[in-house]
Amino acid sequence: MNKNIKSLAERDQAVIWHPFTQMKTASPPIPFVRGEAALLFDENDEAYIDAIASWWMNTHGHAHPHIAECLSKQAMQLEHAIFADFTHPPAIELAERLIDKLPDNQARVFFSDNGSTSVEVGLKMCFQYWYNSGQKRTKIIALEGAYHGDTFGAMSVGARNAFSAPFAPFLFDVSFIPAPLPGQEKDSIEALKKELKTGNVAGLIVEPLVQGAGGMLMYRKEALEQLYTACKEHKALIIADEVMVGFGRTGRFFASEHMKTKPDIMCLSKGLTGGTMAFGVTTCTAQIFDAFYSDDKMKTLFHGHSCTGNPLACSVALASLDLFEQQATWDNIARIEQRHHSFADELMEHDLVENLRRCGVILAFDIATGNDTSYFNNVRDKIWEFVIERKVILRPLGNTVYILPPYCITDEQLDKVYQVIRELLAFFQGQNPV
Ligand SMILES: Cc1ncc(COP(=O)(O)O)c(C=O)c1O
Repeated sequence: MNKNIKSLAERDQAVIWHPFTQMKTASPPIPFVRGEAALLFDENDEAYIDAIASWWMNTHGHAHPHIAECLSKQAMQLEHAIFADFTHPPAIELAERLIDKLPDNQARVFFSDNGSTSVEVGLKMCFQYWYNSGQKRTKIIALEGAYHGDTFGAMSVGARNAFSAPFAPFLFDVSFIPAPLPGQEKDSIEALKKELKTGNVAGLIVEPLVQGAGGMLMYRKEALEQLYTACKEHKALIIADEVMVGFGRTGRFFASEHMKTKPDIMCLSKGLTGGTMAFGVTTCTAQIFDAFYSDDKMKTLFHGHSCTGNPLACSVALASLDLFEQQATWDNIARIEQRHHSFADELMEHDLVENLRRCGVILAFDIATGNDTSYFNNVRDKIWEFVIERKVILRPLGNTVYILPPYCITDEQLDKVYQVIRELLAFFQGQNPV
């Protein structure tokens, strides 16, 4: 190793390739050495408020003692075992407890490794459901602006944009319909109905209520209900990607709980382990499972990862579920919602605040930037620099600023986040970007 390389950031920059990062122009990464509740601490023990729950992963706070204890106990007991032909208690208990919590039509749990793989599995379940049933239905409908992950299947059902451009020739054909956002509900349902009439629609994939990476865009449950109802009428499957919105983000355990019509397939990750480690789950109805349940080996769901059903991941998911059993978690979710509500009233009055929106613990708005609203605009970099200097982690999506904190964030910490946003808006007002 080069003797001149000293700091953690320099050592990192010599050997690591970071996600979604132009390594040449990016600032050196900030090394975190420990976490505690809603805070992350750097090498100098300076605290940063994690106002985006570390890419929407964390639910109960960093280094949570109950999660750490369950993980450690499990590591001493059984760290991993092959999951084809074998099973273990943490996987069984987790599947049972998830089924108890999920909408009552969900009957089976399939484990994978992360959000993207939970979506891949959901898509494969959907395609093979029709294949096994002997019906030719091959088209997936997705919403414009969607993001469902970075593997090829998940990318195929996501918006075609700068992120997917190099891979465009390799993505499978998907029909995109307008998301049922306020003002375009009619376009959305009409486009869906037109697709459904072809008789070739295998399924519709959506993020219920909030499109996360697409810009924290929110739609009303009634508008989504219309899409769901149309799918049911035409027997097209509904895949609910709850990777971001699951586990309390929308104020309920699952966003699908807000809906009358239940999805056929659900994809879970992130908050599944309280954000502690990589894990994915895809669940489905008995009707879907039954299309695979056969004496015919060719009807098997041909999918599996080496680390499937990992006992450590199951143990932290169980520990996280324990914390969701505590009333304090739900009181915190309600408290954050309430405080966001008051702050939103204040933001609404600000000249630079556009498209203010709120759902559960998520508060989002756009900073008026004139024409350039792309993910790559300068405003994004300015916001990032401004907030990080003030030790608040708010990673904007283009000119969209959002807060999505761990539920244990204190009132004092939330006040600091709100204050930094006030200062940010004052800074932009000074710069007059409009
Ligand atoms: C809705 C949604 N689906 C899928 C994914 C992909 O999850 P992962 O990054 O764990 O692969 C994400 C990630 O942000 C997401 O927000």
